[in-house]
Amino acid sequence: MSNDILFQEALTHFPGGVSSPVRAFRAVGGTPKFFRRAWGCRFEDEEGRTFVDLCMSWGPLILGHAHPDILAAVQEAMQEGLSFGAPSRRELALARRIKEMVPFIEKMRFVSSGTEAVMSALRAARGFTRRDRVLKFDGCYHGHADAMLVKAGSGLVTFGTPSSAGVPAAFGELTSVLPLDDFEALERFFVERGSELACAIIEPVPANNGLLVQKPEFLRRLKDLCATYGALLVFDEVISGFRLGPAGAAGHYGITPDLVTYGKIIGGGMPVGCYGGRKDVMGVVSPDGPVYQAGTLSGNPVAMAAGLATMAHLTPAFYQGLDATAAAWAAAFERLPGLRCPRMGSLLWPLFQDGVTRSDAVQGESITRFNLLHRALLAQGIYLPPSGYEVAFLSSAHDATALGDFERAITAVAGSLGG
Ligand SMILES: Cc1ncc(COP(=O)(O)O)c(C=O)c1O
Repeated sequence: MSNDILFQEALTHFPGGVSSPVRAFRAVGGTPKFFRRAWGCRFEDEEGRTFVDLCMSWGPLILGHAHPDILAAVQEAMQEGLSFGAPSRRELALARRIKEMVPFIEKMRFVSSGTEAVMSALRAARGFTRRDRVLKFDGCYHGHADAMLVKAGSGLVTFGTPSSAGVPAAFGELTSVLPLDDFEALERFFVERGSELACAIIEPVPANNGLLVQKPEFLRRLKDLCATYGALLVFDEVISGFRLGPAGAAGHYGITPDLVTYGKIIGGGMPVGCYGGRKDVMGVVSPDGPVYQAGTLSGNPVAMAAGLATMAHLTPAFYQGLDATAAAWAAAFERLPGLRCPRMGSLLWPLFQDGVTRSDAVQGESITRFNLLHRALLAQGIYLPPSGYEVAFLSSAHDATALGDFERAITAVAGSLGG
């Protein structure tokens, strides 16, 4: 059935016709594809057309779509029950695996999404420090909890203002927002407000406003300032966790946060999140401590099984292979006139300007050209994330055949995009 017809019906059911906004294709124009089935690095839409997928469900599918090991593990778990609402051995196995890969995690809790992980980590940080203020950085996305839907206030004022209707202005007053990669603003903020701060939260590899790779010194300075002022450092590794290497961005940079949040890969395509870190901090979480946090489906056995089956593949050799794959795809992108493709591991950001480190440096012209590229590549069977502010995700299923298809598509569209 045609995507257009399905989308017309979807518009009658869902705001914008979708279950999550960026899926609506409003940024790039056109009608969203309705996926019918997916395997490896490809999917088929409801019109029967096949695409090479460079969005990969926004990150969880590091082994590709419908990996046989994950399907087998999920089927086995399903046979034993879909949800217990009680402890089960698969939670332990996934926790053990996470600790093996990320030695600084002493205690953790599973939740059902990245948003929930962040929201809960912030509450734990506030409960532990008995302080209310949190610091975030412009250009980082941390899910849609109220405290995080806040953008920078005007001028030197570091109080935030809500970036979404429905978030009371009073909430914004407790969230401070700073630009990324601005050492001076960082220093000044801590002098003025450091002693009020419960925590600073950052995507150590910001990948939600393009790929705004930070200087390691910026992250290190943030860590030192947090320690000096008695605030906690929270790394939001919902994207970077288990993608950039066994211990994510924390491992890559050699910087240990007090708390970390995960999602995506640890659920292998099923809904999961996790927050954890120092055991004294996690000690405030209910029922050990006074910070309440709960979930009907938390630690869901089927999701745990999918995560475990994924994590079993994540060896150093796996990451080396994935890195080489991603390098080849980035090089193929860069054959397009004027295109740059900053890359961090298997995260790629095709843009039409030199790489940037702050959200305000992304040029409208680059985004306009990305939109043209999106449409042109889609017509050639290549599915990019439907926004120039989103990164592309590679997986171990992006094989040589798919790279060949991609290179042909790049050659086909090169002429039409202008220099
Ligand atoms: C860094 C980061 N944190 C949090 C979230 C929220 O995760 P979820 O969409 O699972 O709620 C996302 C989602 O993309 C993310 O990229």
